[in-house]
Amino acid sequence: MNKTENQMLVIFGASGDLTARKLVPALFNLYVAKQLPEHFIVLGASRSNMTDAEFRSKVVLESTYLKDRLKDLKPEYIDAFASKFFYEDLGGAYDLDYAPLRKRVGDLNDSNGTEGNIMYYLSTPPTLYETIAKNLAEAGLSTQNNGWKRMIVEKPFGYDLETAKALNKGLQTHFKEHQIYRIDHYLGKETVQNLLVTRFANSIFEPLWNRNYIHHVEITNAESVGVEKRGGYYDSSGALRDMFQNHLLQIVSLIVMEPPIGDQPEEIRNEKVKALKSLRIMKDYKTLHDHTIRAQYVGAEINGETMKGYREEDGVAKDSLTETYAAIKFFVDNWRWKDVPFYVRTAKRMPTKVTEVVIHFKSPHHQIFQDTGMHNKDNKLIIRIQPDEGILVKFGVKVPGQGFKVERANLDFYYSSLTETHVMQAYERLLLDAMQGDATLYARADEVEAAWEFVNPILDYWKNGKDVCMYGYASGVWGPENADELIDGIGFWRNPGPNLTDDPGFCVLT
Ligand code: BG6
Repeated sequence: MNKTENQMLVIFGASGDLTARKLVPALFNLYVAKQLPEHFIVLGASRSNMTDAEFRSKVVLESTYLKDRLKDLKPEYIDAFASKFFYEDLGGAYDLDYAPLRKRVGDLNDSNGTEGNIMYYLSTPPTLYETIAKNLAEAGLSTQNNGWKRMIVEKPFGYDLETAKALNKGLQTHFKEHQIYRIDHYLGKETVQNLLVTRFANSIFEPLWNRNYIHHVEITNAESVGVEKRGGYYDSSGALRDMFQNHLLQIVSLIVMEPPIGDQPEEIRNEKVKALKSLRIMKDYKTLHDHTIRAQYVGAEINGETMKGYREEDGVAKDSLTETYAAIKFFVDNWRWKDVPFYVRTAKRMPTKVTEVVIHFKSPHHQIFQDTGMHNKDNKLIIRIQPDEGILVKFGVKVPGQGFKVERANLDFYYSSLTETHVMQAYERLLLDAMQGDATLYARADEVEAAWEFVNPILDYWKNGKDVCMYGYASGVWGPENADELIDGIGFWRNPGPNLTDDPGFCVLT
């Protein structure tokens, strides 16, 4: 196990939802697992006026996100955790002199033995990232001569290619690239990391992992929820920016990448960048038209409950043209993947919440058995990211009886069968990695920019192209009616159910 040095975590935007909902529960898990260093404290910094005690109460003692975890624990045990939390009111704005913050950080460091090691976590609107980095640097809070300084930033990293480049440049003016950790919580998911292990720790998959054996690759990311309380943010973002540019292209890069020479962060990240750079950028209108579909959910009744349409959600413009469904077909221009289509879709208000990767293998080149059952029954490798995490191989078996009738059978593995292992939550894993200085699962500047290079022309086309349709789909169905047109000639999307072995076609009856 790597060593976690004594340190202080300074969270900017600490009064926001992410701190209480994700960060503090992740820290609590690390506390229970005895993974926090001996000297560790958290300083919340934000524009709200709060005392240390009020902050502790908000994010630990009275937190709805920790309630169930705390209920049977001894008060001394909980207090020992809560006492690690402190709060500094930044005084109404982030763009102020950080001298008072420096003083507080210095005092807390001296009295808590955190050895000058500081992790800054920016959980503020991204427009403030550069300002905060600059103010920290000007206050002498980024220098590494008395302990390391690292900075974790939350997505979105930019709004498009240009703003992403500007943001990277801005941050790199004040912090070195190796100090910057761009968090993508999908990379913290065990099943996403397992893509690497499935491919590179087995000799049975990798020989088949190429154009000779793979017919097409399909990735589905579906959520049953709508935009919830984030209509304002979402309406200026959309599915492509919110999910595809980051989480889904990260998954794509792990499927596409070549074997790294080792497991060191830069070795893996170099291959991921190369993979992202090999995605064929769509340049002409015809390709953009034929290979992309966007849509928006409209109101419907699901199980007796009335669901609002996207345009009726709080914070969303009544004539909004922001997509809540995005489906993209693309190719990868390299030796391994030539002519293999990739189909990736992401959407809100689908019939269920599910993320999975399906590797569709080619049919055997010489068919001996004519009676092979139904269409679309070729070998598949299904990697379930969530829920019911696991891996499923679909392969042909003989149906008992005369002749050679072939049916598909399942060979499955479930993470839940590893009962003795504690599966870390994404934020827990990623925080611990950053605390130990391991950036493997964080996105590098060039990786983020390569992803934007691919996404930019699509955004541009959707915004400025002529006759670009915005389809509608009823909440609770698998997207617009014409969603299968994208995979014309191949078949249709595999619409997965909540369980790994569910047969496709899952739907909710209203
Ligand atoms: C976030 C998006 O990054 O990921 C949300 O901003 C989305 O819109 C969420 O709901 C999905 O994460 P998960 O882990 O629940 O699949």
